[in-house]
Amino acid sequence: MRIAIDGPAGAGKSTVAKLLASRLGYAYLDTGALYRALTLAALKNGLLNDRNSLVQLASSQEITVTSTSNCQRVFLNGEDVTEAIRTPEVSCATSLVARIPEVRELVTAKIRELAQGGRIVVEGRDIGTVVLPDAERKFYLTASLEERARRHFREAQKRGFTLSWEEQLRQIEVRDRQDSSREVAPLKPAPDAIIVDTTDKTPDEVVEIMLRHLEGSL
Ligand code: C5P
Repeated sequence: MRIAIDGPAGAGKSTVAKLLASRLGYAYLDTGALYRALTLAALKNGLLNDRNSLVQLASSQEITVTSTSNCQRVFLNGEDVTEAIRTPEVSCATSLVARIPEVRELVTAKIRELAQGGRIVVEGRDIGTVVLPDAERKFYLTASLEERARRHFREAQKRGFTLSWEEQLRQIEVRDRQDSSREVAPLKPAPDAIIVDTTDKTPDEVVEIMLRHLEGSL
């Protein structure tokens, strides 16, 4: 079985996807990390605003992922970039790179390849709608804008980034807008996705809700 989890930034996808994968003994795949890795490459090469060169660069990058149920490491041309792809700069730039159709094609093919064995929880923005429209189960997580910004703010502080609360709120708003309004594979729930609002719920509570929906099909 392949389980798709989509939703906006800060909805709790990564935490919940890891917990769910460990409860089921499944693998876990964070697909945002693939877009982040290509964005890091574009930033390093100063190509963020040069669409054609960026597409060319993206097709020449070797991205590998090692993942278990609760940990994923990402390598860009052999270099471990797991931490480097989490900076606020990369977070902001990623939705610009992710709206380029050729980049999406590359990443979509990679995700399908990684998910083909099944027994996997895959999280992102377009997994249930575009990447794995035939996934056996689909969830769409949401939460209020303030709560999502709060989660990212706490995470950024833990990582030592000095982002003000206003900047954090704005960053999430901008990403929401960019991810939902792009022409290719915009963020939206699949018609057959189960929608879970995580605003006032702990990750464990969300996982319990999901497990109840999965009962009988495991
Ligand atoms: O999930 P995460 O915040 O790491 O994703 C970073 C960005 O990657 C998102 O804001 C979105 O622009 C892009 N993304 C995407 N499709 C996915 C996963 C992520 O467009 N399946």
